Amino acid sequence: MMDYYYYYFFLTLLSLSTVTFFLFRTTTGRKNRLPPGNVGLPLIGETLQLISAYKTENPEPFIDSRVARYGSLFTTHVFGERTVFCTDPETNRFILQNEGRLFESSYPGSIFNLVGKHSLLFMRGPLHRRMHSLTMSFANSTIIKDHLLVDIDRLVRLNLHSWTGRILLLEEAKKITFELTLKQLLSIDPCEWTENLRKMYMRVIEGFFSIPIPIFSVTYRRALQARRRVAEALSLVVKERRKEREMGMKKNDMLAALFDSDGGGGGGVGFSDDEIVDFLVSLLVAGYDTTSTTMTLAVKFLTDTPVALAHLKEEHDEIRTKKVASVTLEWEDYKSMPFTQCVINETLRVSNIIGGVFRRAMTDVDIKGYTIPRGSKVFTSLRAVHLDQDNFKDARVFNPWRWQKTSDSTNFMPFGGGPRRCPGYELARVALSVFLHHLVTRFSWEPAEEDKLVFFPTTRTQKRYPIILQHRSNVAETM
Ligand code: HEM
Ligand SMILES: *[C@@H]1O[C@H](CO)[C@@H](O)[C@H](O)[C@H]1NC(C)=O
Ligand SMILES: *[C@@H]1O[C@H](CO)[C@@H](O)[C@H](O)[C@H]1NC(C)=O
Repeated sequence: MMDYYYYYFFLTLLSLSTVTFFLFRTTTGRKNRLPPGNVGLPLIGETLQLISAYKTENPEPFIDSRVARYGSLFTTHVFGERTVFCTDPETNRFILQNEGRLFESSYPGSIFNLVGKHSLLFMRGPLHRRMHSLTMSFANSTIIKDHLLVDIDRLVRLNLHSWTGRILLLEEAKKITFELTLKQLLSIDPCEWTENLRKMYMRVIEGFFSIPIPIFSVTYRRALQARRRVAEALSLVVKERRKEREMGMKKNDMLAALFDSDGGGGGGVGFSDDEIVDFLVSLLVAGYDTTSTTMTLAVKFLTDTPVALAHLKEEHDEIRTKKVASVTLEWEDYKSMPFTQCVINETLRVSNIIGGVFRRAMTDVDIKGYTIPRGSKVFTSLRAVHLDQDNFKDARVFNPWRWQKTSDSTNFMPFGGGPRRCPGYELARVALSVFLHHLVTRFSWEPAEEDKLVFFPTTRTQKRYPIILQHRSNVAETM
């Protein structure tokens, strides 16, 4: 994921870049051409231009200007490595769909250390396929409808119940998504233990954006320590649950599915506790920042677009009026939020929490008259596709109504594509919908301060979006 790459630059600056710089010189001489571009200064390439663009509210010129000069496929040199940027939907789809054949996902070593080697992110081949589909089948619409929705609804309401006055929306949203994920993975309800785990866990995340060399970076060292403590805490839970399971107690969650799965080696051995812990950590990583930031940005875009917010409120007030008897949202309610789905799509399109994904060419690949040499780093920019006027009219404007007109989503890939497409896409949508429902039916709000979007080192708002809440008087206070 793009964000995780920013700090990696420092490490690779010292080693890899010198090598790739010379590699580049030899390959350009051949008949097969690399996509055109500028690799910038020796060693640092165009990294500083990229960072300074992504630190502003409008990072688009970095890609726009290169597309204008070189076309939709161009070569640059960022974070210590020559990288081919792909910005058109067909090429991106081609790359993502050829995962494991022509391209494979590529993360820096520090992520490997912090997430753990037995995580879905690093699995490949048949094991990846099997575990990806296991993850899907724990988060697919049937499971959400029959099991997860009740808890999502309850935990969202529980959190919103304590909100009052001024809050930092991003922080609160993070708390919600962490609690949701722990419930879904391990059937653990929010308590002091979960809040302590979250604090440790936030240190691990901080490590993603530090210089990944322990002797240089206190943050990275602390992150590794926190990673160990998170793993210890989780492995206690796993041990306990194994015991319960041997005594015949069965829960309905991800951990149970992992116990039942026959493990990496085949032959019915099952996963070890360490493997299970890594797997759990990676799911926590993948769902936490992404969903909570999307929640926050949806609220920001709505606040900045009052007509859309009014329309959304109407939709949810109507659901409330029909549901006099029960406060709990049901699947049918979720299915009767058409405008909410437009808002969610539009938020995903405009904000692009995962701006793109990195791949590495497994062999020489011919694309659009160019050759991407084996071993090259490739960046499929989802953001560039979503914000291209050719794919979406007035692409840089938040306009949820556009989704009422188009049902064609071929150019829309906020969750990636191919074998590594996000297995949490439906879960994220449902969590967002339930969150928006309870937020707009209970509260009105206004921004407490001017806040703005930034994209480096991650996509978020600078001040974590402080807002001042007011209870809506017409709605009965319900837990
Ligand atoms: C708005 C929220 C979310 C967005 C925008 C998002 C986006 C993405 C994207 C673009 C990828 C593809 C990465 C790649 O191709 O290399 C991905 C992968 C993944 N996502 Fe999500 N995601 C979200 C929420 C979630 C949630 C809630 C979960 C929890 C189950 C989750 C779990 C994962 C996992 C495990 C992967 C790795 C899949 C693999 O490598 O096979 N995501 N996500
Ligand atoms: C979801 O997964 C379950 C198994 O966990 C399966 O029985 C069900 O058919 C799947 N539903 C969908 C819509 O794929
Ligand atoms: C939102 O996007 C998805 C693709 O991710 C698409 O299937 C769905 O139809 C879109 N929803 C609306 C309301 O357009």
